[in-house]
Amino acid sequence: MNIEEKIKELEERNRLAELGGGKARIDDQHAKGKMTARERIEHLLDKGSFQEIDKFVVHRCHDFGMGKKKIPGDGVVTGFGTIHGRRVFLFSQDFTVFGGSLSGPFGEKVCKIMDLALKNGAPMIGLNDSGGARIQEGIVSLGSYGEIFKRNVLASGVIPQISVIMGPCAGGAVYSPALTDFTIMVKKTSNMFITGPQVIKAVTSEEVSPEQLGGAMTHNTRSGVAQFAEDSDQAALERVKEILSYLPQNYREKPPVAECTDDPNRTDKSLNKVVPTNPKLPYDIKDIIHNVLDDGRFLEIHRHYAMNMVIGFGRLNGYPVGVVANQPRFLAGCLDINASMKCARFVRLCDCFNIPLVTFVDVPGFLPGVNQEYGGIIKHGAKIIYAYCEATVPKITVITRKAYGGAYDVMSSKHHGGDINYAYPTAEIAVMGPEGAVNIVFKKEIDNAEDKVATRNRLIEEYRSNFASPFKAAELGYIDGIIFPENTRPRLIDALMMLKDKKDSLPSRRHGNIPL
Ligand code: HXC
Repeated sequence: MNIEEKIKELEERNRLAELGGGKARIDDQHAKGKMTARERIEHLLDKGSFQEIDKFVVHRCHDFGMGKKKIPGDGVVTGFGTIHGRRVFLFSQDFTVFGGSLSGPFGEKVCKIMDLALKNGAPMIGLNDSGGARIQEGIVSLGSYGEIFKRNVLASGVIPQISVIMGPCAGGAVYSPALTDFTIMVKKTSNMFITGPQVIKAVTSEEVSPEQLGGAMTHNTRSGVAQFAEDSDQAALERVKEILSYLPQNYREKPPVAECTDDPNRTDKSLNKVVPTNPKLPYDIKDIIHNVLDDGRFLEIHRHYAMNMVIGFGRLNGYPVGVVANQPRFLAGCLDINASMKCARFVRLCDCFNIPLVTFVDVPGFLPGVNQEYGGIIKHGAKIIYAYCEATVPKITVITRKAYGGAYDVMSSKHHGGDINYAYPTAEIAVMGPEGAVNIVFKKEIDNAEDKVATRNRLIEEYRSNFASPFKAAELGYIDGIIFPENTRPRLIDALMMLKDKKDSLPSRRHGNIPL
């Protein structure tokens, strides 16, 4: 063959590889409202930046007539490219090839790209659309999954890992996404479960549809397995880009600072009225969050899950921050099991990747209840303590209203290493709410009073004015200052700029033992 013929051969082989499972299967994919593996990559990466590797890898299986069915690439497209000029590594499972099922060589391709991502310190993105282990290969594919899981664990906290579920994701295959930092699901076309509806019916007689069992909203509202539910493949890929814009390439770097066109000294008198003076009235903590962040932009994470806790990314003066906030609109902002897990995992994520934490506190306490106690609120609540105490990133706290009891301690208090802790004048920092406190402390006095109601109300008011304020905490130095709500943004930015080069470390050890 001369060089022209060799070039032609390469072109033809490239064409075949790029055709994946063929036109009919590509049409099927489109008919389901899904993009192909390659279209997804094209949408995600900067134009022309994708460099594919292992394009001609094929499986080595001969059982079940597989020797005659070989498709170059073998069901997964892997490579590297850039997003907004920043390096990323990725794999994109191709459902048109053997249902995107994972063979030995498929797994080797994924591992190779994960190794490159880890060694070169850049984010790893997995686009999942697969029927799971390639049944014809038997346990070879189980071995490959194991190799992938191990790499997910080794990369955890070193490079950001993002999983997008864009089709089926079943069996043990779900554990790779579960080990990554973010799981984004596409509504209607994706699902995740360990055992599918048929197996469940056989074993427990429960009847459930794939969507009910493991659809995007199930995992975004009930299980908490996924943090985002998007309407389409395109929207899910846009979400990946948005998430990455807040993250560094790896744990050694700081997150990227954006140009800030929003005045860092911007004050807003409307903030003085967000927190109602009546402590029983709810308000939306997101009104404060949106107000103070640059351009009002807040990327909320886990929006549909444990809504009594709000978490997400934003920027202050261009610097990415992780925002954690109790949400008085749901369960009065109480801390329950789900909110504790949501909060703790996010605090640890921010600490992994050098993202300062800004915590807004309005919490009446941990949620009382038999289910909460049986469910282990003690160990789950302890996760928040653990996460904040070990986090060495800058920690800034604003108590907007209630900070009662143990919940005061756990929400980024001074005692747990808060660097700058502010309170609004509306803050109530005390061991418990006035009603509960007087019932215990003044039980006899109330019981013996002629007018029990009037006596109780008087004592509650006395307690409220003496203890349910920020001043006792300010006298003790438990908060660093009481700020005017209208000045929240400039005060946060001043604190963040002061802390941006903070250095802190933890005692030497193999690793801690977080209550799991
Ligand atoms: C080999 C597979 C496959 C698999 C699908 N295909 N899954 N081939 N191994 N696991 C093939 C089909 O034979 C078919 O080939 C093509 O992919 C498309 O599949 P369809 O069934 O036609 O598509 P659809 O109706 O959309 O259904 C998709 C599906 C279904 C829900 C994923 O295929 C399915 O249930 N597959 C099996 C899922 C499963 O049980 N996997 C093993 C899980 S256990 P043709 O040639 O006809 O187009 C597991 C263990 C991992 O993964 C453990 C890790 C520790």
